[in-house]
Amino acid sequence: RIIAAAAIRGAHKIVSRAEEALKEALAKYGPDHPVAFPNTGYYLPVIYGITGIAVEKIGDMIPVLEQAKALLPPEPEPRLWLPYLGPALDAGMATLFADEIIEALKYLEDPPPYTMTSAPVNGNIWLGAADDAILRKRGIEFVDGTAPGFAAIIGAAPTNEIAVKIARELQEKSLYVFMSASTDGKSMAEQLAEEGVELGWETRLVPFGKDITATVFSLGFATRVALSFGNVKPGDFRRVLLYNKNRVFAFVIALGHVDDEKYAQAAGAINFGFPTIADTDIPQILPYGICTYEHVVSNVSHDKIVSRAIEVRGLKITVTKVPVPVAYGPAFEGESVRKGDMHVEFGGQRTPAFELVRMREAHEVEDGKIEVIGPDVDSVPEGGRLPLGIVVDVYGRKMQEDFEPVIERRFHYFINYAQGVWHMGQRDIIWVRISKAAFKAGFRVRHFGDILYAKIKSEFANVIDRVQVTIYTDEEKVLALREEARQAYARRDARLKELSDEAVDTFYSCTLCQTFAPTHVCIVLPERVGLCGAVSWLDAKAAYEINPHGCNQPVPKKGVIDEWKGQWESCNQFIYEHSRGTIERVNFYTIMEYPLTSCGCFEAIMVILPECNGFMIVNREYSGMTPCGMTFSTLAGSVGGGVQTPGFMGIGKAYLASKKFVRADGGLARVVWMPKEFKEQMRPVLEERAEEEGLGRDFVDKIADETVGVTTEEILPFLEEKGHPALTMDPLF
Ligand code: SF4
Ligand code: NI
Ligand code: NI
Repeated sequence: RIIAAAAIRGAHKIVSRAEEALKEALAKYGPDHPVAFPNTGYYLPVIYGITGIAVEKIGDMIPVLEQAKALLPPEPEPRLWLPYLGPALDAGMATLFADEIIEALKYLEDPPPYTMTSAPVNGNIWLGAADDAILRKRGIEFVDGTAPGFAAIIGAAPTNEIAVKIARELQEKSLYVFMSASTDGKSMAEQLAEEGVELGWETRLVPFGKDITATVFSLGFATRVALSFGNVKPGDFRRVLLYNKNRVFAFVIALGHVDDEKYAQAAGAINFGFPTIADTDIPQILPYGICTYEHVVSNVSHDKIVSRAIEVRGLKITVTKVPVPVAYGPAFEGESVRKGDMHVEFGGQRTPAFELVRMREAHEVEDGKIEVIGPDVDSVPEGGRLPLGIVVDVYGRKMQEDFEPVIERRFHYFINYAQGVWHMGQRDIIWVRISKAAFKAGFRVRHFGDILYAKIKSEFANVIDRVQVTIYTDEEKVLALREEARQAYARRDARLKELSDEAVDTFYSCTLCQTFAPTHVCIVLPERVGLCGAVSWLDAKAAYEINPHGCNQPVPKKGVIDEWKGQWESCNQFIYEHSRGTIERVNFYTIMEYPLTSCGCFEAIMVILPECNGFMIVNREYSGMTPCGMTFSTLAGSVGGGVQTPGFMGIGKAYLASKKFVRADGGLARVVWMPKEFKEQMRPVLEERAEEEGLGRDFVDKIADETVGVTTEEILPFLEEKGHPALTMDPLF
């Protein structure tokens, strides 16, 4: 029967390893030496989430190790049957604490064994702990469902071929694949690397580390999702674990012989509600009947292991079958096609290329018709180029012209999802590549049509009845149709500019992030994009028409309470209801009083700097210090989770260029600091807006950045010298 003994034995081994490592580190560096995973505000996340202890120095690990030892059940006699769930779970948790101690101490090595990047560099495939930038970016995918969960793989497959097959299957199901540990000296990540599979966060195949203790990076990731998106307080271990059990769909796949240390990791994962599925015969760690599902499933064959894991964890995954000769799914979105690997490319300023959705009358659209006009890709030599015009005509009784750009912007994803096909940009600046491998597998130009037809029909089923795709590769035709497309783009832009908050009587809500931040409600206005930057008013409106029961709902604009600050009775009522009664009122045009809440997906964070009488804005990509004394990731920890924090707010980048940008606080003139790169990225729109506001185009150069300083003392003289308007505006308080 069940033997929890192995897990307990393994836990003892790992805890004594941690004890050794800690003793050594204390002797070498002393207790006050700092220790951390890179760029994170969550310290050693499992320890932080479960115990509330923030490990910052080596000495801080001492009480944690004590806790781990206290959790360890006595080492069992061989073959002793343990009837309780408790000891194995405790041993599992002790293992995770010890894992984190061991892994954190590795970062003291010079150089550390991990790349600390999002993809392998210079032959080192091991990435180590994900930093907070990766966590937030990937966390969003868990939120919006593009990633239903993750598989933590420990060990290696019996052959490289099987390893690739398992990885591809998980990718096709859009799951993240976290890899650690080895079997007989080999790890699955190494097997994939040997087969030339692209590894890294972009392709969702994440090599954490070869040591068994690197398995804890998966659970650390899960813990941080609970802390950041679920607004769970560090130390509230019950909620951390429940959150994961209920919302993070993860499981462990154990490949090859399972030794004591691996059992101990599996026991750790069970604490989070993550079961283990193995290809070998392993006994149950826990007795049956305690939980709603099995915790350990053994002897599963390799061709069934992925589907079995998904079934055991209770995941529902729906995949639209797309008739293309290559694998297809969101996990292939991040994969690049390098110049040397490509068979053919289109656009990218080298040949004319564009894509366009046109709303048409019923008789103008023949459903399912896909036509290629011009040469196909087998007519060009390897590494060659072709022009490309993709025209998609749609008809639907509920279709509106406003939905054209919404559908068109999805092309990027739809096309990228095909393995070995790469797509960048939109409108007439697209750049597309087909890899040699995809070409060899039979991918041809008409498959763009197959993809678009299948995806548009399934994702926009409520508004679209007919889809017809015409693909042009004939240069003359592409040039002529590109003119037509450009006129269409210009018409859309003009219309977008006309949209204003005053001109509409309905705003839209977005509660997509509630799966992870249960009280957070975004209200999307024509002049205020959702804080993730991905949902505009038009998008939300389209999404509502496409799916009236989805997470975008109309919010009537009625009963004005404060026009200038942007507060309406009907909006308050909606937010109150949908935030489960936690938020009573919201002003859309100020950060100082009842600002909109944030979930965790914000592109940038805006913070008051009282000494400068203005605001700083820091974007997600910037990892350095800021004048408010906090980095983006530290700030993110206090801004997210659906709470209202006056003076702090998550925003979408485009909101900066809005006429309604914190209007009630003085608008753009209040911006005193931004990271340099962010400022340059936004420069064209900021200059235009500054001019409209009467601040002058050179206002942008009055905004300080990190080259001026990262403290208010450092930037104040600069602001004074430049005559920054914020300094002479009314006090913010
Ligand atoms: Fe999440 Fe708000 Fe973006 Fe919707 S608009 S996805 S709720 S951040
Ligand atoms: Ni359970
Ligand atoms: Ni969110």
